[in-house]
Amino acid sequence: MTAAADAGDAAKCPYFVVRDPEAVRDVLHRPADFSPANALVAVTPLEGPALRVLQRAGFALPPVLASNDTGTHGGIRKVVAGFFTPATVAAMEPRIRELAREAAVKAGEQLARTGTVDLVQAVAAFPPAVVMLELLGLPVRDLADLKRWGLDSMELFWGWPGAERQLELAHSAAEFYIWLRRLVAESMAAPGRNLFKALAEHGLSRTEMSSLGYFLLIAGQETTTQLISTTLFRLLEGGEPVGWKEAASDAGARSVVRHVLATESSVPTWRRVAAHDTNLGGDLIPAGTELLLELSGNRITANPNHITARHGPETPLPPDAGRGHSAGLVFGSGIHRCLGAKLAELEAAVIVREAAAALPGIRLHDPDPAWIRLLSFQAPRTVTVVAGQG
Ligand code: HEM
Repeated sequence: MTAAADAGDAAKCPYFVVRDPEAVRDVLHRPADFSPANALVAVTPLEGPALRVLQRAGFALPPVLASNDTGTHGGIRKVVAGFFTPATVAAMEPRIRELAREAAVKAGEQLARTGTVDLVQAVAAFPPAVVMLELLGLPVRDLADLKRWGLDSMELFWGWPGAERQLELAHSAAEFYIWLRRLVAESMAAPGRNLFKALAEHGLSRTEMSSLGYFLLIAGQETTTQLISTTLFRLLEGGEPVGWKEAASDAGARSVVRHVLATESSVPTWRRVAAHDTNLGGDLIPAGTELLLELSGNRITANPNHITARHGPETPLPPDAGRGHSAGLVFGSGIHRCLGAKLAELEAAVIVREAAAALPGIRLHDPDPAWIRLLSFQAPRTVTVVAGQG
């Protein structure tokens, strides 16, 4: 079993890249050997000015859920999982469909009015955020800020910002954190059940709750927005096993979402760190080695040396992207497996289906949009379309 990528100069890449799906699964199922402690650590170390901005806001991200490698993880996970049970997610389907239809109809109106519409903003961005907040019992407000903060924090922690950009992103992250601390405090006194009350009852401090909220309020919606964006883009580009017309059916939409998950998921890689000297397949992995696990097709693990490049990878997606992948590992595996997998797949399928049904005959206006290309996140920033002929 060859766990490491063989291409390129390994000395330049800071990660031990694991591409073989069996080896990835092995790593994820050995949390005592391969800790998630580095899962949320900034890829580009934060510099003094950016750190000072964060410190002034009291910013702290103690490990609570995704990066928690202690015995407290299981209990906390159970509390959060209570908000995303299969029954709760299934019961949310009509609401998801309602939000998706509303967004698709508005997109159609904008198209008729102006001749063009960006489907990322019009259909992919907001429904997942509304659904997440409603499921968590939190107020649905400040959605445009939430979207901006999510993207900025992803870039700050998973990107390669230069010093100036880092400072801008730190201001945004600090703003998000202050907003979050206020939300946590307010939620304690709010009527009814909500995430933060449940976590407080479980014994979490406000700092721990803010840390969990910081990750969850991004992971719980922006990743889904990005999966939808890529799916819409690839569908309209053509060349997918499913076309725009077929995507207007439940089965067609579900199948194209699963295809994109395998070939080009919004979370194509995830990190682990060796807790002590250990082995993976035939390789000796020294303590402290950071591993980059390939979960889906992507440009990063195709050429890991680009990880060191200032602006991240710009290599073309290799023609074999996702080959050998099923959608089986895209939500991770084992004790940290994604708690939103069912929700994300359902939302993506419903939103893609409703867009395809409401906007027949549309064509891509910009076949070469800018992409979000971070260590662990990828998607087109815009999917701009025009009406088709006839
Ligand atoms: C397309 C959308 C999504 C993708 C591709 C995705 C992917 C992932 C991945 C790869 C992990 C790491 C798993 C591991 O370490 O084994 C993860 C963890 C997690 N995800 Fe997602 N996710 C998505 C959407 C969501 C949504 C909608 C939610 C919440 C509603 C969510 C909540 C979480 C949580 C709480 C964890 C940490 C679980 C733990 O550490 O126990 N994710 N996700």
